[in-house]
Amino acid sequence: MTPMALALILGWWLVAACRAQHLSRPSLSLHPSQGVSLGENVTLRCHLPQLAARVRLYKEGRWIHSNYKYKEQDTAEFSFLNTNREHAGRYFCQYQVSWSAVESEKSDPVELVLTDRSFPPPSISVSPEECVETGTNVTIQCWNKDYGAAFLLHKDGCSAPIQRQDLAVVGTATFTIFGVTPADSGTYRCSYRPSGHPFLSSPLGNNVTLEVTPTPSTPGAADSSHGNLVVAVVGGCTAAFLFILVLAIFFLLAGCRRQIQRDECPVDALKCSSVNSLLPLLDSEGLTYVELQAVTPSSQPLNPPADPQPSVIYAEIAVGRHH
Ligand SMILES: *[C@@H]1O[C@H](CO)[C@@H](O)[C@H](O)[C@H]1NC(C)=O
Ligand SMILES: *[C@@H]1O[C@H](CO)[C@@H](O)[C@H](O)[C@H]1NC(C)=O
Ligand SMILES: *[C@@H]1O[C@H](CO)[C@@H](O)[C@H](O)[C@H]1NC(C)=O
Repeated sequence: MTPMALALILGWWLVAACRAQHLSRPSLSLHPSQGVSLGENVTLRCHLPQLAARVRLYKEGRWIHSNYKYKEQDTAEFSFLNTNREHAGRYFCQYQVSWSAVESEKSDPVELVLTDRSFPPPSISVSPEECVETGTNVTIQCWNKDYGAAFLLHKDGCSAPIQRQDLAVVGTATFTIFGVTPADSGTYRCSYRPSGHPFLSSPLGNNVTLEVTPTPSTPGAADSSHGNLVVAVVGGCTAAFLFILVLAIFFLLAGCRRQIQRDECPVDALKCSSVNSLLPLLDSEGLTYVELQAVTPSSQPLNPPADPQPSVIYAEIAVGRHH
């Protein structure tokens, strides 16, 4: 167990060194998290790992709004009422523990994508249709010949899109789900990002449903693999332990260097693979910032971020706000 003790001591030391060096990063979340239309209200909430004297919200490209007050809170809220196209974009937040202190690490960027209902919804088709066997490759096509530049495939029940495709020319996107399993059964829809408007979204289009029938299991296959399984498990555990040690150290180091992208789809991570982690990181050039009043967060229990009923989340924020 000497290597393990060593690893623990090393890990503890790395964490301590990391804390001393950086103000750990805040995290930024959107409420509602998805599907806000132009004209609706949205709140960006910066979650602070410690109390801060000042919190800043930055937006790539443009300066929007300024409101220069502060309070000591562990959450700062920035609300946009009656959103317009100018609000759409990529944001991050940073804080200072005192007026003279250095700014913290940046939060991971968050994209505020607003649904613009003046764009027509995309069309959708699925092939082969409706009911298929496990293992089939299923193709879903989405199209809008006038505006569709990047298409997103949504599955009902998943808060984030499950696939994204950027097109070189406006037109049709083809999504393939290879070797479907019963877990892929469900209702699918598309939306698109209009050409030239990366942070606007079309409304969701019509749905297609996919039903995957399970293949009856073959009894022989399970038995023959049993002996090998025992050997594999024993060998695998040893390898896995070493691997996890190395990984843990790697991630501690990476954490210090702010390389970790956070998974923004924790609730349905098992059945939905989110495209959020593919979003490019911001660079710090040409950024402007917004400073708004930090508002006392709602005292009511907050809904989880993946709540599929966005307007409900907003209502609670609105009720709970006070100055
Ligand atoms: C947005 O918030 C304002 C002020 O709280 C409220 O009057 C308005 O009804 C809200 N709009 C929507 C679409 O919820
Ligand atoms: C599904 O697609 C993969 C990759 O193109 C291919 O190798 C496989 O044979 C296909 N399976 C079926 C059932 O068509
Ligand atoms: C899918 O669309 C059909 C009509 O095209 C509609 O009857 C059905 O309710 C929709 N399903 C869901 C889950 O929205």
